[in-house]
Amino acid sequence: MSDVPTHSVDTQVEELLAAMTPAEKAGQLTQYFSFGPSVGDGGPQRAGEVEEALGRGGAGSLLFVTDPAETNRLQRLAVEGSRHGLPVLFGFDVIHGLRTVLPVPIALAASWDPETIERGQAVAAREARAVGIHWTFAPMVDIARDPRWGRIVEGAGEDPYLGSVVAAAQVRGLQGGGLGTPERVIAGPKHFAGYGAALGGRDYDEVDLSDAQLWNVYLPPFRAAVEAGAGNVMTAYMPLNGVPATANRWLLSEVLRGHWGFEGFVVSDANAVRNLTTHGFAVDATDAAVRAVEVGLDLEMAITEPAYASLPAAVEAGAVDEAALDACVRRVLTAKLRLGLLDDPYVDEQRAAQVLNDPGHREVARVAAERAAVLLRNEGGLLPLDADRLGSVAVLGPLADSRRDTLGPWVFDFDLDETVTVLDGLRTRLTGVDVRSAPGVRPAQRRFPSVFDMFPGNTPPDPTDFDDEAELQRAVELARDSDLAVLVLGEWQQMIGEAASRSSLELPGRQQELLEAVVATGTPVVLLLLNGRPLDLRWAVEHVPAILDLWYPGTAGGTAAANLLLGDVSPAGRLPFTWPRTVGQVPITYAHTTSHEPQNQGRRYWDEESTPLFPFGFGLSYGRFTYSDLTLDRDVVGVDETLTASVTVANVGEHDADEVVQLYLHQRSGTAARPVRELKGFQRVHVAAGESRTVRFAVGPDERRYWNAAVREHVLDASTFDLWVGGSSTATLGTTFTTTT
Ligand code: BGC
Repeated sequence: MSDVPTHSVDTQVEELLAAMTPAEKAGQLTQYFSFGPSVGDGGPQRAGEVEEALGRGGAGSLLFVTDPAETNRLQRLAVEGSRHGLPVLFGFDVIHGLRTVLPVPIALAASWDPETIERGQAVAAREARAVGIHWTFAPMVDIARDPRWGRIVEGAGEDPYLGSVVAAAQVRGLQGGGLGTPERVIAGPKHFAGYGAALGGRDYDEVDLSDAQLWNVYLPPFRAAVEAGAGNVMTAYMPLNGVPATANRWLLSEVLRGHWGFEGFVVSDANAVRNLTTHGFAVDATDAAVRAVEVGLDLEMAITEPAYASLPAAVEAGAVDEAALDACVRRVLTAKLRLGLLDDPYVDEQRAAQVLNDPGHREVARVAAERAAVLLRNEGGLLPLDADRLGSVAVLGPLADSRRDTLGPWVFDFDLDETVTVLDGLRTRLTGVDVRSAPGVRPAQRRFPSVFDMFPGNTPPDPTDFDDEAELQRAVELARDSDLAVLVLGEWQQMIGEAASRSSLELPGRQQELLEAVVATGTPVVLLLLNGRPLDLRWAVEHVPAILDLWYPGTAGGTAAANLLLGDVSPAGRLPFTWPRTVGQVPITYAHTTSHEPQNQGRRYWDEESTPLFPFGFGLSYGRFTYSDLTLDRDVVGVDETLTASVTVANVGEHDADEVVQLYLHQRSGTAARPVRELKGFQRVHVAAGESRTVRFAVGPDERRYWNAAVREHVLDASTFDLWVGGSSTATLGTTFTTTT
């Protein structure tokens, strides 16, 4: 927590509130976009409008300003424009780094390593705070079980337990101990709630979720983020079960503030207050503003004319109680005071430059990229490579040397010059080896453009002089003439993220053709993937000996890739989602329930297996792990008691490696039917070759409690439980225990 005594913050807030007019209050509740001149024509809100609002105390917050000189300039306008000297909060989407780009969030989750995640987000926060950003719209903690949804890349995947651990680690990293921690920013978990379950995977579309799904799957990561102290929460765009999330009393008042005791401030998603009219929910902008304020939607993120601009007139007309505005303003001002902004609203521009250039930050990004990579296939031990036995390597594919795509979506302040592609990384590393390269295929393009295309460099070039047949042939020839082909394929970064849902999971463009032609040369192939969602790899798993998923690995991605391929470090990331064979299987999760004919679970379709291509929690290693001696300290416990499971993990291979030890539970019977297994514990441990370790897990009521639709509350059933420990969700080493009332 901050050093500022709370009573003095509270007193100051009340004094300010008492002196503010309704118009000043509405200003504090309004957030404007402020794009620099490099973005289109300055974005939907022209600089003039934003500055005019600042000059009359009409803006409480701005987003998208990342230049320290500009944050200072705009801050001065705000402080001088407000009768009370109130500074603005600068918010921004610092999703996986600012200047130093970390692997994308789904990759961070794939590290199954809370410390790496926390360290990475602390770097992101340090850079952000140095340039004047006070608050990030992160982490995105939406559960995603449908990879057609492009925003799967921004979250931690399908699982509520993993999602909760990752959410808490991100909040700790971004925010530190509490608001006011030096070099940290306010964390804003989003999008509350259910956004990841968009119908058909179509971004922004409606969500219908049962209460059981909400409580057991979609809400836990939000709760974990709130418990970790997150100072903000962002609402989702869509209606949840028919009621827009942004004015959803149940979500905001009952669940968030009631059940969980959240004391921070809530922001809408962009334009989501005004959108209450497009939902067919609010009559007009005034009605939208009033209904949002009444459920405690504190800050409106406005793209067009803010709906909250109508609040002063609504107060005057008696359409809204001023006390409702006060409650919102109180929460916004409290955040500003606790950050210390009233005392020191400006940043040191020179220091900002030093922080952004800190080489230690790139090291953190490199280690994170190494720890996030998932080895999906390694037939015949092709990896790690032995550099001494390689004369020539062909590094092929359209993503092999694309700096922008190495970084992934949702970054804006990167430095392409210092971004290391796979080709860069291998060239630096393989001195003495002839490293050749060719893209093979031209960048594929989206059929429908995205709002993100307005950012410079976000759309890949579509060269007119690219001879498709000749380029494919050139890549194939290079592969044929080399000792090894490293093929880097996947999705261009603008094909994933917000407004980037897909109806297919196939490799875009002519990449599959390139893959098949390169494999046909007979040269050994290592396939590296840049992706944020599972892709259709049915052909690849039959024909390509080695597949390593790098995700979008960030600034130091190519260095990390080289270190992994050459065996300096063993891959140990694990899939944070179930990888389907084909798009027809989605949504898909390992934690499903069974009903009729469970023995036929793998053949629910007549034309394709209904099992995944790779299970949740899966990932190979250069080490070789065995599990034994699974024991429980007690096999009968009271429903509210905790037992300890322990297991021996041995690395019987020849390489030192990390292993992600995972614990799954299944409740055999009870007052509801429970999933066949659910992740309830994991630890990433390092085990040297030839050594073993004992790993212990506490299994208590928190691991067994669930929300039950029959009684409409959380329950702990007395039951018999299966417990498995192993290296993925298909772990077979198991035991049982019983709980009694
Ligand atoms: C996204 C949010 C994001 C906001 C501001 C919205 O379109 O849904 O996740 O924080 O824009 O950039």
